[in-house]
Amino acid sequence: MRSRTPKRDIRLRANKRREEYLKMITSKQLRNKWISFYESKGHVNIGAVSLIGDGSTGVMFNVAGMQPLMPYLLGQPHPAGKRLCNVQGCVRTVDIESVGDASHFTFFEMMGNWSLGDYFKKEKTAWSFELLTKEFGLDKDKLCSTVFAGNESAPRDEETAKFLEELGIRKENIFYLDKSNNWWELEGTVGTPCGPDNEWFYPLHDEKCCDTCDINCACGRYVEIGNDVYMQYKKLEGGKYAPLENKNVDTGFGLDRMLAFLNGLTDGYKTDLFSGVIAYLEKISGKRYDDGGEAQKAMRIIADHTRTSVMLIGDVNGIVPSNTGAGYILRRLMRRAVRYARTLGIESKELLNAAKIFIEEVYNEAYPLLPEKEEYILQEFSREIERFEATLEKGIKEFEKCVNGIERKNEFMSKQNPDYVKESAIGGKQAFKLYDTYGFPLELTEELAAERGYTVDAAGFEAAFKEHQQKSHAVAEGQFKGGLADTGEATTRLHTATHLLNAALKKVLSPDINQKGSNITPERLRFDFNFSRPLTEEEIREVEALVNEKIKEDIPVVFAEMPYEQAREEGITGVFDSKYGEVVKTYSIGGFSREMCGGPHVGRTGELGTFKIVKEQSSASGIRRIKAVLE
Ligand code: ALA
Repeated sequence: MRSRTPKRDIRLRANKRREEYLKMITSKQLRNKWISFYESKGHVNIGAVSLIGDGSTGVMFNVAGMQPLMPYLLGQPHPAGKRLCNVQGCVRTVDIESVGDASHFTFFEMMGNWSLGDYFKKEKTAWSFELLTKEFGLDKDKLCSTVFAGNESAPRDEETAKFLEELGIRKENIFYLDKSNNWWELEGTVGTPCGPDNEWFYPLHDEKCCDTCDINCACGRYVEIGNDVYMQYKKLEGGKYAPLENKNVDTGFGLDRMLAFLNGLTDGYKTDLFSGVIAYLEKISGKRYDDGGEAQKAMRIIADHTRTSVMLIGDVNGIVPSNTGAGYILRRLMRRAVRYARTLGIESKELLNAAKIFIEEVYNEAYPLLPEKEEYILQEFSREIERFEATLEKGIKEFEKCVNGIERKNEFMSKQNPDYVKESAIGGKQAFKLYDTYGFPLELTEELAAERGYTVDAAGFEAAFKEHQQKSHAVAEGQFKGGLADTGEATTRLHTATHLLNAALKKVLSPDINQKGSNITPERLRFDFNFSRPLTEEEIREVEALVNEKIKEDIPVVFAEMPYEQAREEGITGVFDSKYGEVVKTYSIGGFSREMCGGPHVGRTGELGTFKIVKEQSSASGIRRIKAVLE
């Protein structure tokens, strides 16, 4: 985070009233500009897909614009052609603790465009350059670009550098950087597309902090505004890379960041995406955002978490808060927003009004489903707030118990030994339990402790926190790996078996069964579905037998593409719903199973072997989980 306000920002602020200032370019204009620019270059706007992982990859949220396009970057033809663009929402929650500064968000939109084996570096550099200098008016003499310095996997990207120079970018503004900077891939994955990238930077102002102040300088004068990835490799095991058949381009410019940058802002919460909600929070709390400090941090957290929660509940595959998986992340976000509302001294239910601003004013055009689902979203919000308020009270009781325990121990020990040094701190583990189980921020526990003459073992809290974080990172990574890592034969077979299982459960248990989650490793499949009680032994055998019967029938797995609406009308089930009615892929297994799905699948069910359910258990309230193998 930058500690001082850059000159450019101050100048703009001095010259214009804030409202005028935001009129420079609005979020709605920026979205439209991105799409119309790339449409004018022959791209098709494919719209955005769900923020929630599709179940077939095991990824919890959509984390990158390219994620839904993975099969196409790997070579499968895309129904909309070879030149695509969109604005895609992404949710990344690994940095949730960093939200509160000027630039971290748990939801953001990625403006993207792709060439699937069509144009390459010459056109891409020219278009990025045109967009930045002509459409957005950036000075070409200040524009900086970084390219890949080369290593044993891929050559030094002199080709891109040459094109950049020809376009008029100064030679001294082109930098060769190593893999840690100029190589893009999804970490923790194998079998995914990746490659060297060309990143774009621009200075926020002209005051050099030192003689050597350039894009590598730590002063933060230069901001990264986007990147063009030349996706021409596939990531293999052991850090190796193989060339892809197609040379693709994968461009990503973060809308939230770009919007701030184009409006001369260094604070992402000052754009029109947030200004309405921040103004509202200022009004009801009586505190000023610009005064900084804890109130500013709280407003940012409330705004960010409320926005992401609205998006996750109002998504086409919307989720609700729960204690597992994506639902748990949503719960954490909502409760954190409630806690920070309390630190601002405002009623938790005011969050509903913040949510309304996002739904009705900010995202109403780009996400028409949000106004449609408004009542439902607000209802889920208010339910979760009520639930948390109940936990908060319990947490306070837990805190009291903890202090009383220390007091009793001190009293007892002092009687035994007059020299006993009384304990004066709440233990780190206890503070973490209050944080984790009851949603108490450390600061709240510290405040409560101070009132009783105690401190909190903050170092112990940090240690317990880190331990927990490592565990959850391990889980998150496992999920990522489990999903995307392998597109091999074993997972393909299990993927088809998952479709058979889904259909068999519908037949044996109830037609209302729906997939609630799926994770496939080369060893087994895992399938979550809605059902309110454990399956009986008999039901399990029946499901197993039905799947095996369909395997024996050696039914061909038939692939078809059709408009989304048609697929829905034909009753084809799908968890990865398409937002803008484009063409979807479907896989049918006789009349038995029909699902919307990106594949891949085996050609005939006979290839699967013998299907065996190895475990049936509860996954969450109302959700059962089956683990199964093919032998
Ligand atoms: N895939 C690239 C990114 O997410 C464009 O930044």
